Amino acid sequence: MESEAVVVELQRNSKDFAKIVEEIVKLEKKIFPKHESLARSFDEELRKNNTGLLYMMDAHGEVVGYAMYCWPSSLSASITKLAVKASRRRQGHGEALLKAAIQKCRTRNVHRVSLHVDPLRIPAMGLYKKLGFQVDSLIKCYYSPDRDANRMFLDFASS
Ligand SMILES: CC(C)(COP(=O)(O)OP(=O)(O)OC[C@H]1O[C@@H](n2cnc3c(N)ncnc32)[C@H](O)[C@@H]1OP(=O)(O)O)[C@@H](O)C(=O)NCCC(=O)NCCS
Repeated sequence: MESEAVVVELQRNSKDFAKIVEEIVKLEKKIFPKHESLARSFDEELRKNNTGLLYMMDAHGEVVGYAMYCWPSSLSASITKLAVKASRRRQGHGEALLKAAIQKCRTRNVHRVSLHVDPLRIPAMGLYKKLGFQVDSLIKCYYSPDRDANRMFLDFASS
């Protein structure tokens, strides 16, 4: 990974909040098809209780990726978004963001982190498997009538 890039937790009271959200929404629109996109409801998603957003900022202050996570209950947490700008992929940013999001979930003392991913998203499937996620089930027509989702999970060993 480029050594200058850092993972930052988005803070609502930060002076850069609106600018960062705007950059992320732009990426979201480019990366995801409408039925998978949170672009139109991003701010609403962020306002939900127990939701966090991490972003990767490069040395020039550009947002090159982001991960959203939530922990609706004390039992489990979810990774609800993960994306890296197309021109900045395969540099370790996705893995760093996912690891940071998993770590955030861990601090909530949940036992499991889950997520949904279209099985045709080969890079994402590769990344989730690399970090230990297992496929739980295939949910037909999850994203749209012709797009399914793998439900995946990662369990934390109880300590
Ligand atoms: C999935 C995504 C976030 C990965 O980001 P990235 O920064 O390119 O990933 P990294 O460079 O950190 O790669 C980490 C691991 O992911 C897997 N991976 C990444 N790109 C891959 C590819 N093109 N093919 C296969 N595996 C891939 C590999 O296991 C890789 O580990 P390795 O480098 O040891 O082989 C990125 O491809 C993306 O934004 N895709 C579009 C959005 C998306 O599908 N999001 C997930 C929706 S649930």
